[in-house]
Amino acid sequence: MKRMVSGIKPTGELTLGNYIGAIKNFIEFQNEYEMFIFIADLHALTKPQDRLKLRKRIKDITALYIACGLDPDKVTIFIQSEIPAHSQLAYLLECHSYIGELGRMTQYKDQISKQAGESITASLFTYPVLMAADIILYDADFVPVGDDQKQHIELTRNIAQRFNSRHGDFFKVPEPVIPKQGARIMDLQDPLNKMSKSDDSDKGYILLLDDLNRIKNKIKGAVTDSFSDVRFDLEKKPGISNLMTIYSTLTKKSIKEIEDKYRGKGYGEFKSDLADIVVATIKPIQEKYNNIIKSTKIDEILDVGRDKISKIAYKKIMKANNKLGLGRKR
Ligand code: AMP
Ligand code: TRP
Repeated sequence: MKRMVSGIKPTGELTLGNYIGAIKNFIEFQNEYEMFIFIADLHALTKPQDRLKLRKRIKDITALYIACGLDPDKVTIFIQSEIPAHSQLAYLLECHSYIGELGRMTQYKDQISKQAGESITASLFTYPVLMAADIILYDADFVPVGDDQKQHIELTRNIAQRFNSRHGDFFKVPEPVIPKQGARIMDLQDPLNKMSKSDDSDKGYILLLDDLNRIKNKIKGAVTDSFSDVRFDLEKKPGISNLMTIYSTLTKKSIKEIEDKYRGKGYGEFKSDLADIVVATIKPIQEKYNNIIKSTKIDEILDVGRDKISKIAYKKIMKANNKLGLGRKR
């Protein structure tokens, strides 16, 4: 069975973008692949975090993974920081990465321009190397992610290939799996930017744990153009096209079918239907979440995940050390 590895960082609450771009695909793949899905808590530390909030978000993401439909009997779920080999391998990979290539990462460049004038942590710069370690530590075949992570996976491939060419075949070179549709859900208020949990305006994103009425209002208040035809055109009509993408991914109706259904009808009816569709998706997730978060199940799942993954990770990191001549011959 081919192996898939992916994670989400607990820097904020999960959005509809995370669901459509990542989690929904984890669920679709869980019967076909061996899946390791983690909470990338180390990745959250590139910026200062409140420790109690971070703890809560780690638990929340675990509960939401399950509430969204990840089956812990099929998928191994674990917390990144509970497996020390991630940081250990990240260091070894830093010794095989170049400042130049890290400086070219768009996400890094965007972040530093947002933080202009502030101090930038060294870990923000080395972040993609830790991500590479997360993946190749497990010899992943595939990495299901949204569009914004494509460049990081490309870098992961380069680092793995470089390591292999210096030391002999050792890491599997992974492939990204990016959904054809919904790989970049845009901000509802600013459809030229990605929907993100760290945005300033909370009207621009939908959280999986948002109040259901607020969700409806956010969709009805989403920015659209001044024409009123429900037609997909990313350049001229980015707002309505984004809403159509959300509609299509949640209902499995094609864009063409949606255009046909709303021909001659205005944005009002379309948005109102979409609001119902999003609520119908999120409501059962919230109900399951509310049950799981109160139970002891989360800790049990994370314990099982940690114990299983620890063994695999330890073996690989010891082999990597050995390969590089570290320590004593084993
Ligand atoms: P993050 O929240 O940055 O850790 O992202 C976790 C996963 O969700 C990654 O695979 C991202 O590519 C994906 N993701 C985040 N935001 C979006 C979005 N607006 N649209 C689609 N996928 C997203
Ligand atoms: N960097 C990813 C993001 O911001 C999260 C992540 C960390 C990840 N490690 C990973 C995703 C390994 C896939 C595989 O979205």
